[in-house]
Amino acid sequence: MRQPIVAGNWKMNLSLEQGLELVHSVLEKIGSPKARVIFAPPFPYLQAIAGLTAGRENIFIAAQNCHQEEKGAFTGEVSADMLRSVGAAYVLIGHSERRQYFNETNEVLAAKVRHALSKGLRPIFCCGEPLVIREQGNHIPYVAGQLDAGLFELSEADFRQIIIAYEPIWAIGTGRTAGSDQAQEMHAAIRKLIADRYGAAVAEDTAILYGGSCNAQNAAELFGMPDVDGGLIGGASLKAEDFAAIVGAC
Ligand code: PGA
Repeated sequence: MRQPIVAGNWKMNLSLEQGLELVHSVLEKIGSPKARVIFAPPFPYLQAIAGLTAGRENIFIAAQNCHQEEKGAFTGEVSADMLRSVGAAYVLIGHSERRQYFNETNEVLAAKVRHALSKGLRPIFCCGEPLVIREQGNHIPYVAGQLDAGLFELSEADFRQIIIAYEPIWAIGTGRTAGSDQAQEMHAAIRKLIADRYGAAVAEDTAILYGGSCNAQNAAELFGMPDVDGGLIGGASLKAEDFAAIVGAC
């Protein structure tokens, strides 16, 4: 049985004070959740947020990005070791905003995945198609290409550390959610690709999250689909009530 996962990607939002208040309030509301809950705050807040969640079962911290090299002259970058040292257990890799605004190529993303894993940081690997690709009906081959390039060179043991987040770009921050049938179609296709590469048992165990305008109103229907194992939540993760309701929808 896969444990549901709800991860909140704050992106570049909130002050430290607001972030601490948000986590405090979410923890109070969710009690002992059935889902694994992951907070992904901006880098400068990681340590303080980790302090709030330490010792809480099923609650973890993720970074929103990490560099692919161990250390060195990379001004402005943050390494996997640094993230581990401040309490992060997970890291988002390949978010469409990183791919689009920071030119992160499949090659770079594959290197980030490998490096994070080598440091014991578990990647939440994001994939998803732009609108034009969906309109052409090529969304499944497009996402298959992203998985092939980013993940499918990994050994089985390494792949088992990966969480996948399917986020159609046309649904991120737009209020336009993929229908539960569209999400299920893609999630089933991803699971089949994993089964073809690593076998049915690995595919059954892999968590595949949905992201893109997921909110307190539509989460239960999305999470009710057989291959949707939870969500990667942007905007709705910034409000304690909404995020707690989404956690409760698992
Ligand atoms: P959204 O963002 O929930 O605001 O659409 C999701 C994401 O980008 O992870």
